[in-house]
Amino acid sequence: MEGGARMIVTIFIVCSIFLPLASAKLGPQGLRVGFYENSCPQAEQIVAEVVSEAYRKDPGVAAGFLRIFFHDCFVYGCDASILLDSIPSGEKVEKDSPANGKFLRGLEVIDTAKARLESECPGIVSCADTLSFATRDGSVLAGVPQYNMPGGRRDGLVSRAADIISNVPLANAPIQQIAELFVKKGLTQEEMVVLTGAHSIGVAHCQNFAYRVNKYNDTFQTDPKLDDADSANIKSACQRQVSNEEIEKTTLPFDTHTPFKMNAGFYTNLFKGTGLIESDQAMALDPRTRPIVGRLAEDEGKWLNQFARAMSRLAAVDVKTGSEGEIRKQCRSVNLENKGNTGIAQNLGKTNSDNNFDSSRTLIQASIPIQAIPLA
Ligand code: HEM
Ligand SMILES: *[C@@H]1O[C@H](CO)[C@@H](O)[C@H](O)[C@H]1NC(C)=O
Repeated sequence: MEGGARMIVTIFIVCSIFLPLASAKLGPQGLRVGFYENSCPQAEQIVAEVVSEAYRKDPGVAAGFLRIFFHDCFVYGCDASILLDSIPSGEKVEKDSPANGKFLRGLEVIDTAKARLESECPGIVSCADTLSFATRDGSVLAGVPQYNMPGGRRDGLVSRAADIISNVPLANAPIQQIAELFVKKGLTQEEMVVLTGAHSIGVAHCQNFAYRVNKYNDTFQTDPKLDDADSANIKSACQRQVSNEEIEKTTLPFDTHTPFKMNAGFYTNLFKGTGLIESDQAMALDPRTRPIVGRLAEDEGKWLNQFARAMSRLAAVDVKTGSEGEIRKQCRSVNLENKGNTGIAQNLGKTNSDNNFDSSRTLIQASIPIQAIPLA
C-alpha cells in the first residue's frame, strides 16, 4: 500500500519532470520535429536533395511550393488534399478550382520526392509532410535562414474545388476579410502580413492585376494606389495585341528587382506603390497593418526569422495526425483500400474549419454555400 503510493508519487514526479521536456519538442496537435528519425531517418535529406536539384533548374519552384502549401493548409488543413488529381466521388478537386488550376507549379517535384521516399521507406512518409519539407527547403534556398519543420501530418481523403472560394483569399479581397480568414485558421493579423512576404518571390498572372489598369472603377481608369511606371508596365504586359490565350499565360514577377530572393524589398515596394496585386498594397494602407508592414520593411533579418516561425504555425493548421487519414502511396490519388471509403465524414470531422464557418463572414460574395455534411 505504502509502496504503491510511493510508486505513484515517483511516477508523478518523473512525469512532471520529463513530460514538459518531451512535449517541448511536440508541436501543436502532435506534430514533432524529427518525426521520421527512427522510421525513415533519411526522409528530410531525400526531400532536400530533390528540391535543390529542381531549384537549380528552375528557382521558381520555391515560389510554387509556397503557394501550393498555403492553399493546401487553408483548405481542410495541411493534408495534401491539394495534390489529389481526383477523388472517388468524381467531384471536381481543389486543383480544378480557377484559384489554383494552372497557377500551381512544382507539383512534379513533389511527385519525384515522394517516389524516392516510397522506394526507400515504403508507406512511411506522408505527402503532406513531403510538401511541408519541400516548401521549407525551397524557402531556405530562396533566402530564409534554415528552420525546423515538424512532421507527423497524415494525408486527407477529400479534395473539393467548391471549398476553395471560402477558404483561399483572392487578390481583390478587402484586408478585413483576408484578416478574418487568417484569424479563423488560428493565425494572427501580424502573421498574415509576415507570411504574405512570400510574395517577395514568384509571379502572378494578368488575370489577377490587369483590372487595376483597365476601368478600375467608376472614378478611376487606373487604380490610384499604383505607381505610374508600374501601371505602364502592367499595361504593356497585359494589353498587348496578342491572342487572349497568350495574355492568359502572361505573368509578371511580384518583385521586379529580385524575383527569386526572399527579401524585405517586397514590403518597401508596397509603400512606393509598386505592389503588383491589390491586396498586398492594401496592407500598406490599412491603418491596422501599415505599422506591421513598416516594421518588416525596416528589419529584413527580423522578418525572415518571423517568417520561419509563422511557417511552422501555418504548417500546423487543422492537420490530421495519429490514425486520421492515410499515408498515400502516391500523392495524386488516395490509396486503393480507401477508394470505396468516401472519406467525407472522416475527413470533415474535427479538422475541417468549414464546420464552424460563419457564412456572414464569407470572403467572397459569390461564395458557394457550405453543404450539409452527412455524418456516419
Ligand atoms: C494574404 C492573402 C494572399 C492573397 C490575396 C494571395 C494571392 C495571390 C495571387 C493572386 C497570386 C498570383 C497567382 C497567379 O496569378 O499565378 C499569388 C501567388 C503567390 N502566393 Fe499568394 N496570396 C496571399 C497570401 C500568400 C501566402 C500567405 C503565401 C505563402 C506563405 C503566398 C505565397 C504565394 C507565392 C509564393 C506566389 C507565387 C507563386 C508562383 O510564382 O508560382 N501567398 N498569391
Ligand atoms: C475607386 O477606387 C478608389 C481607390 O481605391 C476609391 O477611393 C474610390 O472610392 C473608388 N470609387 C468608386 C466609385 O468605387
